[in-house]
Amino acid sequence: MQKSLIKKRFSKSLTTYCDNAVVQRKMAKELVSMLEKKNYKNILELGCGTGFVTAELVNGTEFESYDAVDMVLECESYLKKISPQVNFICCDIEDFHPDKTYDLIISNASLQWVGELSEFMEKIKPVLKSGGSFVFTLFGEDNFKEMAQFVTNPLKYYSVSELKEMFFGYKIDIIMETTEILEFETPKDVLKHIKNTGVNALSDTRWTKSDLKNFEEKYPINANGKCSLTYQPIYIKLEI
Ligand SMILES: C[S@@+](CC[C@H](N)C(=O)[O-])C[C@H]1O[C@@H](n2cnc3c(N)ncnc32)[C@H](O)[C@@H]1O
Repeated sequence: MQKSLIKKRFSKSLTTYCDNAVVQRKMAKELVSMLEKKNYKNILELGCGTGFVTAELVNGTEFESYDAVDMVLECESYLKKISPQVNFICCDIEDFHPDKTYDLIISNASLQWVGELSEFMEKIKPVLKSGGSFVFTLFGEDNFKEMAQFVTNPLKYYSVSELKEMFFGYKIDIIMETTEILEFETPKDVLKHIKNTGVNALSDTRWTKSDLKNFEEKYPINANGKCSLTYQPIYIKLEI
């Protein structure tokens, strides 16, 4: 994983992220609604971004501590506006070794960026308190399927059955795959959306004029004349 590139792209897209990441915002709401209504002592959020989950969670949940980790430093100012109680930690979640355990670990639309998810699942286990919950979303194999003919996706999207194999030692409460389809007027609008949400984070190659022309000519157009972009969110709730 080219961490510096991921960091650069997300940091650049922060100002446009909130208005454009409509699917991620919906996912954050849905994810938080899957939690039991109870008070958590220590909460850890991984890849907090501009705080879609943070905002959902701090309203109506009582906690003693809330640590929110992201490797993009500029996220801190977004979080401070949401709640001064949230402790922002700027670091790579793969290098995060806290000296305490958490009774809730939560993450929205971020864990597809970690190098080896199965290794990360093992690494995070000792950080989760016994009886604690680890709830997160990531994306399934059909995510951005319309883009597949134009770019090689460096991210690994897993099927539900592949994911289940990685959850050894956890109890699976929920694993649910869904589909969200966005529609755009033109193929160029699709590209703009991807850029505005930072999801182009791993592609370092600039498209030539002919790449762009090819994209505009070949991007699939629906019967209604619009361009669809498929998201495939997977919601997961694990216990230990
Ligand atoms: C698609 S955004 C999701 C943000 C937020 N969770 C939301 O619901 O909108 C992914 C976030 O994960 C962060 N991220 C990706 N890989 C990371 C890593 N290895 N360590 C820390 N943060 C990471 C990015 O900086 C970005 O803010």
